[in-house]
Amino acid sequence: PPRARLLDCADFTDAARRVLPRDVWDFIAGGAGRERTLAANEAAFGSVRLRPRGLSAVGEPDTAIRVLGDRWGAPLGIAPLAYHELAHADGESGTAEAAGALGLPLVVSTFASQPLERIRAAAGTSTPLWLQLYCFRDQRVTDGLARRAADAGYQALVVTVDTPYMGRRLRDLRNDFRVPAHIRPANLEPDRQAPPGGATDTDSPSAHSRSAFCPDQDWTVVGRLRRLSGLPVLAKGVMTAQDTRAALSAGAAGIVVSNHGGRQLDGAPAALDALGEVVTAAEGRVPVFLDGGVRGGADAFVALALGATAVFVGRPVLYALAADGAPGVRRLLSLLCGELTDTMVFTGHRTVPSIDATAVEMPR
Ligand code: FNR
Repeated sequence: PPRARLLDCADFTDAARRVLPRDVWDFIAGGAGRERTLAANEAAFGSVRLRPRGLSAVGEPDTAIRVLGDRWGAPLGIAPLAYHELAHADGESGTAEAAGALGLPLVVSTFASQPLERIRAAAGTSTPLWLQLYCFRDQRVTDGLARRAADAGYQALVVTVDTPYMGRRLRDLRNDFRVPAHIRPANLEPDRQAPPGGATDTDSPSAHSRSAFCPDQDWTVVGRLRRLSGLPVLAKGVMTAQDTRAALSAGAAGIVVSNHGGRQLDGAPAALDALGEVVTAAEGRVPVFLDGGVRGGADAFVALALGATAVFVGRPVLYALAADGAPGVRRLLSLLCGELTDTMVFTGHRTVPSIDATAVEMPR
């Protein structure tokens, strides 16, 4: 599609739908069960109204923030997403290059299709990279990835707490979805992914998660990863005050409010609707992030107004990559930053930390 027509997040979605094979589109776009939580994530943003302010003399707002000692160009990052090469041959290094150009952080998935070191090099020196970890039955796999990320110059680890195994994703079951043979989890050794006798084949993500992920994991993993890597460890997939307290007790350096983009527990609330409960329970002790349903700079603004330090964007990044590789992701990210800037100007906010609940109206 002509680049000039990519003016809104939805334009990237439409472009990706046209170019991706049907089963890959379904793998990315789909959620668990009846996809109620998937739909709720985006819908939740639609019911919040922004409060315009006039003649507020904000000039050029500053979107930059500091997180765990690093500068981010805006309170927007890229959520961990498996196999960027499914969307485009540029893969994670293309995404990293785009993130690096804007000084925005990228969370690299355990199931990245390119090596951690190559992604680090593509991002450049000034952009934060975090590594997302799933907990494997074979603890050496999880721990090895954590050490490798530290050696490669990653800034933090993100443990996904909502995935003892993958949710029931009906589109993938109906399509019998398999990751094409030329796309591999580049940072996992084939012989280490499953216990002896278990399935070793990573082609079906859901079957692989059943055999390789550890459904018995508890919160002690946070402290273990912290000690062995020396990196801050965040917990991703927290939706309740109870889990917020568990994460804090375990020593988490931050929390990502997320329902995995509606791909795990269908029937869970929208991420935005869980944000307040988590922010309250965190008592300002650690930064609280959100992912799920962010489809524009104004959505990011709403999450910030309701207490998030920053937001992560998931599917739209793969759509932008599918549409136009690394330049597509760069264009999407600058679009989101531009929309956030507009929203700050029209609501009278010069800096990100000044954005608070007085800027929005909640549904009655
Ligand atoms: C994901 N997500 C995810 N999360 C994670 O912790 N590790 C992973 O490897 C993946 N992989 C993955 C692949 C695909 C195709 C999707 C769509 C999602 C979940 C992701 O990090 C995030 O929570 C949601 O995608 C955020 O919601 P939106 O922005 O997609 O609505």
